[in-house]
Amino acid sequence: TTYKIAVCVGSLRQASLNRKTANALVALAPQSLQFEWMDIGQLPLYNEDFDESPPKEWVMFRDRLRACDGLLFVTPEYNRSISGALKNALDVGSRPYGENSWDGKPAAVVSVSPSAIGAFGANHHLRQTLAYLNVPTMAQPEAYIGQANELFGENGDLVKDTTKKFLQDFMEAFARWVETING
Ligand code: FNR
Repeated sequence: TTYKIAVCVGSLRQASLNRKTANALVALAPQSLQFEWMDIGQLPLYNEDFDESPPKEWVMFRDRLRACDGLLFVTPEYNRSISGALKNALDVGSRPYGENSWDGKPAAVVSVSPSAIGAFGANHHLRQTLAYLNVPTMAQPEAYIGQANELFGENGDLVKDTTKKFLQDFMEAFARWVETING
C-alpha cells in the first residue's frame, strides 16, 4: 500500500531552510509514502464572511487535503510560535464549521531553525492546534532541527551523515505511524 502525504512548509521564502529540510525528508522517505506539496502561500486570509462562497484557493486546498492519508508539517519559528501563513492554512482547512479537512489524518511535525533550540516553541504551538483539530500527531521520535543554517551544501544536499540518518529514521517511523492510523 502507498499513502499520500500532504507536505505543509510554514515558510514562504525562496531559500527557506524549512523547504530544504522538507525536500530532504521527502527524498529520504520510504517508498510507501508519496507526497503532495501544499501551496499555503496562495491562500487568501481566512475570513468567516467568505464561507458561503469561498475563494477557489480554499476549495482546492481543502479538496487536496481530503484526498491525502497523512500530513507532514515542517515549521519555522516566528516569535516563538508558528508563522502566520501556516496558522492561516490550518484555519482555512478547519472550516466551514463541521467540515474539518484535517480530521483524523496522521501527522508528523518537524521544526527547523538556525538557532540552537530547533524551533521548539513553534513545534509545540503547532501540536496544540493539531490536537484540537483531531489530528493524531506522532509523539516520538521528535524533530527539533537546530543550527539548520549549517546543514545544507550549495545544492541543498545534506552535508552530515548524522543528519541524514536522523531524518531517514524519522521518516521510517512516520511511515509506520501513517500505516497504524490508516489501519
Ligand atoms: C524569526 N526567527 C526566529 N527563530 C527562532 O528560532 N525563534 C523565533 O522566535 C524566531 N522569530 C522570528 C520571527 C520572524 C518574524 C522571522 C522572520 C524570523 C528566525 C528564523 O528561525 C529564520 O529566519 C529561519 O531561517 C526561518 O525559516 P526559513 O524561512 O529559513 O524556513
